[in-house]
Amino acid sequence: MKILVNCALPYANGPLHPGHIAGAYLNADIFVRYQRMRGNNVLFVSGSDEHGTPITITAEKEKVDPYVISSRFHEEHLETFRNLDINFDIFSRTTYPEHSETVKEFFMHFYRNGLLKERMMVSPFCPTDGRFMPDRYIEGTCPYCGYTQARGDQCDNCGRTLDPQELIEPRCILHGTPPEFRETKHLFFQLEEFQDQLLEWLDTKTFWKPNVMAFTRNFIKSGLKERPITRDIGWGVRVPVEGYEDKRIYVWFEALIGYVSGARIYSRETGQDDYWKDFYFNPEVKNYYFMGKDNIPFHTIIWPAMLMAMGKYNLPYLVTANEYMNFKGLKFSKSRGIGYTVNEILKLVDRDYVRFYLAFNLPEGGDSDFSLEDLQNRVNTELIDKYGNLVHRITSFVVNSQIVPEFNVEIMDETDRTILSQAADAAANFSHHVEAVEIKKALSSWLELVRQSNSYFNDSAPWTLKKTDPKRCSHKLHISLYLIQALSAMAYPFIPSSSVGMLTTMGSKKFRENGINWDLTELAGSEFTPVKSDPPFRKLDIIKGNPNFLDLKIGEIVDVKNHPSADRLYIIRVNMGYRSAQVVAGLRQHYSPDQLLGRKIIIVDNLKWSKIRGEESQGMLLAADDGKTVSLLSPGDTAVKPGTPVKIGDYEYNTSGKIDIDKLKEAKLHIEEVDGTRRAVAVLDNEILPLNASGALFSSYEEVSSGATVR
Ligand code: MF3
Ligand code: ZN
Repeated sequence: MKILVNCALPYANGPLHPGHIAGAYLNADIFVRYQRMRGNNVLFVSGSDEHGTPITITAEKEKVDPYVISSRFHEEHLETFRNLDINFDIFSRTTYPEHSETVKEFFMHFYRNGLLKERMMVSPFCPTDGRFMPDRYIEGTCPYCGYTQARGDQCDNCGRTLDPQELIEPRCILHGTPPEFRETKHLFFQLEEFQDQLLEWLDTKTFWKPNVMAFTRNFIKSGLKERPITRDIGWGVRVPVEGYEDKRIYVWFEALIGYVSGARIYSRETGQDDYWKDFYFNPEVKNYYFMGKDNIPFHTIIWPAMLMAMGKYNLPYLVTANEYMNFKGLKFSKSRGIGYTVNEILKLVDRDYVRFYLAFNLPEGGDSDFSLEDLQNRVNTELIDKYGNLVHRITSFVVNSQIVPEFNVEIMDETDRTILSQAADAAANFSHHVEAVEIKKALSSWLELVRQSNSYFNDSAPWTLKKTDPKRCSHKLHISLYLIQALSAMAYPFIPSSSVGMLTTMGSKKFRENGINWDLTELAGSEFTPVKSDPPFRKLDIIKGNPNFLDLKIGEIVDVKNHPSADRLYIIRVNMGYRSAQVVAGLRQHYSPDQLLGRKIIIVDNLKWSKIRGEESQGMLLAADDGKTVSLLSPGDTAVKPGTPVKIGDYEYNTSGKIDIDKLKEAKLHIEEVDGTRRAVAVLDNEILPLNASGALFSSYEEVSSGATVR
């Protein structure tokens, strides 16, 4: 059976992070590997989406041609996919000439059939360099929320989509000059003509996941309108129509056609020019599309409409989209330094561990969160403790005992029958889930069989049977080997290179003869001659425990009042950048309000809130006390901004939660001579570590002696 699997073309505008991989590429690769194990003929296509204004903006910043940027990230994408064992048949580029030829064919077909209509629009034009500006090149004040850096297409503060004409005081991001609004012509794709056909087609998609359907129906509800598919820019696929020489085809419209051009290029490169045709024109061939959720309407509405307009092309069979995998609740972003790129993680962690963790944590039902701590923990407890150890125990027991594993139907007992039917069920459930692209559920079926197999091997106790009933021992070892053979086969789409290693170690005859194949999940014909080997996995130990339980921040004193009912206390308001806190502090004998106002201090932000003589205290200001002098701690660098986190040595706050005063004392904050200067330090895990923020160390405003306690 032939199957076409298309994966959204990632923008060649930055490195891939785990969110991309978990959004579309890993689940697609798992699906494809599984289908190939079943003997299906899969064509697996993706590529770099090289056009679009984010790439030209990067290029203008670096003062290079956009092609330099997209080539750089195309190479990097290739490397990331290779390192992760995500194996497309072709990972194409939208700057290939074959791509623009294919786009031209689609375009001309639409043009001749009256599906592209010319309309006049008013667009922003930059008088400084005499060209129309893409929406993203305009910045201004948001008319809704007043945010001063709203973009021409959207306000990042309130999230509203905008029209560049709505911006207050619009300006060009390159020159700072205000744009003019000028008339320009564009071609519009007549999307609304496909409304009925689309709705009818969508009605047949009862098996699509709810998130995909919901997005799609919502999109249609707001009305299908004609969409401009040309732009006034110089980077993109040329418009093959007279009068459009200075314009380019809109990136989305052309990138989607990258699926077809990719398949064609693959066919040509492998010397079978027509190979791709069956995948698109034979109605028996199912077409699958994988992507992140922001890509849904392009694949469930616009691309199907384009294919309908072409006439004979297969429409998508299944469109599947994951939600987002975030980093500590935020979107991964290389430019803002949130999270890690995949290549950074792969420097620390084996590819199969990354694949296993991302699959385990796939954002299929809702968003999920990535962390290295969680990765280490899941890999160690689920993959290694439960599975790797089982494989190693079974194979090394057989090798060391020199027992020949042999199945003997006459001595089958109830536990044997149970585990064999559990294995058959697990394999069936696994298949069912992968075929429905429910990857996490497939992994759970597998984990369930791992658990059952562990019990089977433990309960069989071959180390005892070896002496009491050698025949039964050999029989049970055969079943145990069969179980790990089936488990390795099922694990193959998830952790391909480890699975191949394990099948080799267990000396699976079927594997030797036919390679990776779904047949490995069947008992019949299985024979094993295991070989001596090291454990298949090494436990991960990449996370050093972080002992810093103090959430310390820079604050700035903005208001000081006397406490109404305690003559040693002040009520101090502290600006912490993103918010302010009220703190009750016993500083009245040491500082006048004037001395305090405007000072930068350190505040403990995770102290349990308390009422001090009836007034709420939401933190504590750190001060040193040597018995004679009490002095607030001062940041070495007065330019440091309120809200800046204070580290202890290299440790950031470990987010362990609220603490009380007694816990605070455990940090042994005090003043210590460091390189000849008195500094505020903490003692964590027997290490003396200086407090620091933005690279600067802390001392006290007034001189205190070494050893003074900080509280
Ligand atoms: N480049 C787009 C993104 O990363 C996806 C394009 S999918 C395509 O969101 F099919 F249009 F190429
Ligand atoms: Zn706004």
